[in-house]
Parts: sequence; C-alpha cells; structure tokens
Amino acid sequence: MRDVTLLNIFEHHIAQKYLNRSGLAHAIAVAYHAFQLGKEHHLDVDIAAKAGLLHDMGHYTWYKNGKWDYDLYKQNDIHPIKGAERAHKLLIRLGENPIKAKTIALAILFHTDSFLPSNDIVRTPLQQIVKWADEKDEEEGGMHHYRTIEYERAKQSIIRLDEWIDNDKNID
Ligand SMILES: [Fe+2]
Repeated sequence: MRDVTLLNIFEHHIAQKYLNRSGLAHAIAVAYHAFQLGKEHHLDVDIAAKAGLLHDMGHYTWYKNGKWDYDLYKQNDIHPIKGAERAHKLLIRLGENPIKAKTIALAILFHTDSFLPSNDIVRTPLQQIVKWADEKDEEEGGMHHYRTIEYERAKQSIIRLDEWIDNDKNID
C-alpha cells in the first residue's frame, strides 16, 4: 500500500500551481512515460511516475517585458534544483515515505544536464529513465510546456495511472 497517490499530489494546491506553470499536459505525459520505462526496467513504477509528474515543478518564469526570455533562462535556470526541493517538501508534507521522497527528489535533480557545468553524471537506472521520459515528450522550441489539458481529463489520467501503479508488483 502506498502512503501517497498521484491523485493526492495532483490535488494539492502547491502541485497545481507549479504543474500548471510548466505545463500539466507535459507533466502527465512524462509520468506515463516514466511508468512505462520503469516497468520495462523492473523499477519501482510508483517512484518513477511521481518523479515524472513532478520533474519540472522547479521552473521559474523568466519573462522580460512580458515575453519569455530564453537567454535569461539559459543563463540563470536552476529548475532541477528547485524542483527537487519543492517536490521533496510537498511529498513529505503529504506523508510520503522519506526514503521514497529522497529518491524522487534526486531523480528530479538529475533529470537534465542543462543546468550543470558538465554532462558527466553517472545516473542510477531510475534517474536515467526519468531523463528519457522527459526527452520522449520534448517538442522543438520548448513547445511541450504550452500543450494544454482540461482539469477533469487530467484528473482522470492521474486516476488511471494510479490504478496501473497499484496493479504493478514492482512497488515497495
Ligand atoms: Fe520536462
């Protein structure tokens, strides 16, 4: 039995705020990809899906004069660090197992090399699949952040993924 479901996370106002900022449709798509890849690699699909759902919750809004400033973003972005911290705080608040919360936070921290001075990290299998899951849903020019989904449809997708996770044997 899991301490926290995807639906618990999804319905929390902090998750709503940050998932909407970086694109709820993208977050859900990455959660599904992470679940699928987790299954293929015999990993804990609950951890994989949660990391996928929350991986981009650290994004900041780099606007200048009302327009997204990509240079400002590239120069100053630390969204994996912020995301790892925000996700960890949220998960602990919701009553997540602390070992799981840490594993999820680290998968979020290492889901991209974009903010690091070099790209020589050696990832765990779980960290690697969260990175792949994100890349599977990426669109040119960051367009994946702008795809939209209705709240009710999003909620139903989350509920369905929760059921798949509950039916999987590779969860602790
Ligand atoms: Fe992403």
